[in-house]
Amino acid sequence: MKKLLLYVICSLISVSQLFADEGMWIPLLLKNHTIADMQKNGFKLTADDIYNINQASTKDAIVIFGRGCTGELVSDQGLLLTNHHCGYGQIQRHSSIEKDYLTNGFWAMSKAEELPNPGLSVTFLVRIEDVTKQALEGVSSSMSQTEKYKKIADNNREIESKAIAGTNHTASVRSFYYGNEYYMFVYEEFKDVRLVGAPPSSIGKFGGDTDNWMWPRHTGDFSVFRIYANKENQPADYSPDNVPYKPKKFLNVSMKGVNEGDFTWVIGYPGGTEQYLTSDAIKLVSEVRNPHKIKLRDKRLEVMNAYANVNDTIRIKYASKNAGVSNSWKRWIGEINGLKRLDAVNKKIAFENEFTNWAANKPNYNGLLKEFNKNYTDIESYALAYDYWREAVYGIEVIAYASGFEKLIEISKGTDSSLALAESTRLLKVSSNFFKDYDLRVDKDIFKALLPMYFAGVNEEFYPSIYSKIQSKYNGDFDKYVEQVFEETIFNKPEKLEKLLSNYSANRVGELKNDPIYVLYNSFLDVYKDKVSEKYFAISAKNDSLYNIYMNALREMQPQKKFYPDANFTMRVAYGKVKGYYPKDGVKYLHYTTLDGVIEKDNPAIYDYDIPNRLREIYKQKDYGVYAKDGSVPLCFIATNHTTGGNSGSPVLDAYGNLIGLNFDRAWEGIASDMMYDPDFSRNVTLDIRYVLFIIDKYAGAKHLVDEMVIVK
Ligand code: ARG
Ligand code: GLU
Repeated sequence: MKKLLLYVICSLISVSQLFADEGMWIPLLLKNHTIADMQKNGFKLTADDIYNINQASTKDAIVIFGRGCTGELVSDQGLLLTNHHCGYGQIQRHSSIEKDYLTNGFWAMSKAEELPNPGLSVTFLVRIEDVTKQALEGVSSSMSQTEKYKKIADNNREIESKAIAGTNHTASVRSFYYGNEYYMFVYEEFKDVRLVGAPPSSIGKFGGDTDNWMWPRHTGDFSVFRIYANKENQPADYSPDNVPYKPKKFLNVSMKGVNEGDFTWVIGYPGGTEQYLTSDAIKLVSEVRNPHKIKLRDKRLEVMNAYANVNDTIRIKYASKNAGVSNSWKRWIGEINGLKRLDAVNKKIAFENEFTNWAANKPNYNGLLKEFNKNYTDIESYALAYDYWREAVYGIEVIAYASGFEKLIEISKGTDSSLALAESTRLLKVSSNFFKDYDLRVDKDIFKALLPMYFAGVNEEFYPSIYSKIQSKYNGDFDKYVEQVFEETIFNKPEKLEKLLSNYSANRVGELKNDPIYVLYNSFLDVYKDKVSEKYFAISAKNDSLYNIYMNALREMQPQKKFYPDANFTMRVAYGKVKGYYPKDGVKYLHYTTLDGVIEKDNPAIYDYDIPNRLREIYKQKDYGVYAKDGSVPLCFIATNHTTGGNSGSPVLDAYGNLIGLNFDRAWEGIASDMMYDPDFSRNVTLDIRYVLFIIDKYAGAKHLVDEMVIVK
């Protein structure tokens, strides 16, 4: 009994109390309490050094890179570092069999050789404002949920447009703590961003998907870009006349390295976490949704890998897609394991029991968990159908591609032929991008695998009407059906399709609309629209409004606890210490790795481990220059910073704000930190900046880039 009591108390503490290293904090609010704790742990700067709108501060050296990563400025000439996997799409787009930058790397030896990247942009944060009051103005408790959402959206649009009037900025008001607070983020975007350098994948993606999400790690996951501006140092579209951007602030680079216990911090753009989920939500994710999604991706990866392993053209075409599919797939697996080990569901239940007692006589709160429970029960079948729509239907490339023709087909019904012309011209461009990285064999095999999985995975009420046709006409033989539609469709035949698009007129819409792939897509779309999405989003919205109240209740119940808002791809600061961990009984992981580990893993027979000869040579000669440490070169280290996807490329900084590494991953055993941070296991994985410099200087011979940086010795 005593033991049980102790267990309950311990688990309550672990859920309701914040560990020193847990949390992702809003830069604007550091002064409230965070900065004092950072300083207590070793931080030597002030809140104003990190975020200040009146003078240059660290935030001015940080950008959103592309759509989902972070990058940082490291020179007064707009030089920028991010991860190799963040620049991967760009590196791939510049690659071909003849110029295989993925395999061999790329280094611009002068600014003239830097490669433009249409579509890539970086975004600076200009300022943050607390706009909670304005956002909630006119919102009353008597309003329906829909009315509330509409009012808030209207308010936010007005706040945003006022904030940016007369500037080239953009603004975005975002909800925090499930709609209990609102902050506005004003941004400035630069669109001329050029590729400066990338190591070979056997360095930048060393270990590939086998090592991904794992420690010990030996991945030199970095790439180098440069921001260009017009002559006035203002954002501008690409032009050969643009000049390197002069940033307000760039980071100095420290060669001092790290020791266990050192204070570190991370500033960047964590994409999304769900720290306050109820036990029912965790159950749904870890016992139902993730397992299905994992199964579907198992199949896709199996097919892609089988082809990529024996065919270099396919390997290059599918490299970026494969990495994307594999990345979440592996994370989901890790999350399930982590949540199990943490006994997350039972911990949450224990906490919820405590909550129920506390809320017993509080009419606003006492029915909350029951309502959650009902919603999570109700949503299950819709959630699954939703996941199958995204993972199975859209996992088939030719269907996903055909879905892009919805608009053209719609427009073709109308009388304005110029609209159809514009849309078909746009699709013509999309088409060349699509087919550049498309292989019929891969897609057909995936198609054959996923289609039957859809019908095995969802309730019958979510079967599209075409199902009965496949049953009757093909005797339920999915393979036969797939063979037939693959033969007949235009959506996997670039010449035919491009011919149609370049001479498009609305009277040919039938060739698209009646295409068997489009018919199949449409049949799924009907189900999604009529039977899945409405219910799914309605119940999700109900849950959101419950979380809005629950979040309030949690803060009321634990007034001493410092709550941080879930990550939502806005700038955050996390801090922690360099620290190894004990992954399993009898095993201790050190806090760092070195080049020696690369050599241990080196294997010419495996693409992801087959390092360049040049690196082998350097290792033999021990030609490490100033980057040597104890006879090797430091490579990665781990620390307790609370990070998530989107933090890739984020600078990892020392107590003085010097750059000591690039965040690029988390370690396997603690990956469940998006839902439950675990101080014993949750570690962010950082590429040591000394390895970055070593590769640029000693491997690539691009010392001029290192010379651009300010190095602190
Ligand atoms: N796991 C890291 C992140 O979430 C790295 C992903 C890229 N690397 C890969 N092998 N797929 O983005
Ligand atoms: N690799 C992740 C990213 O692209 C960061 C790792 C994580 O999820 O923490 O943002």
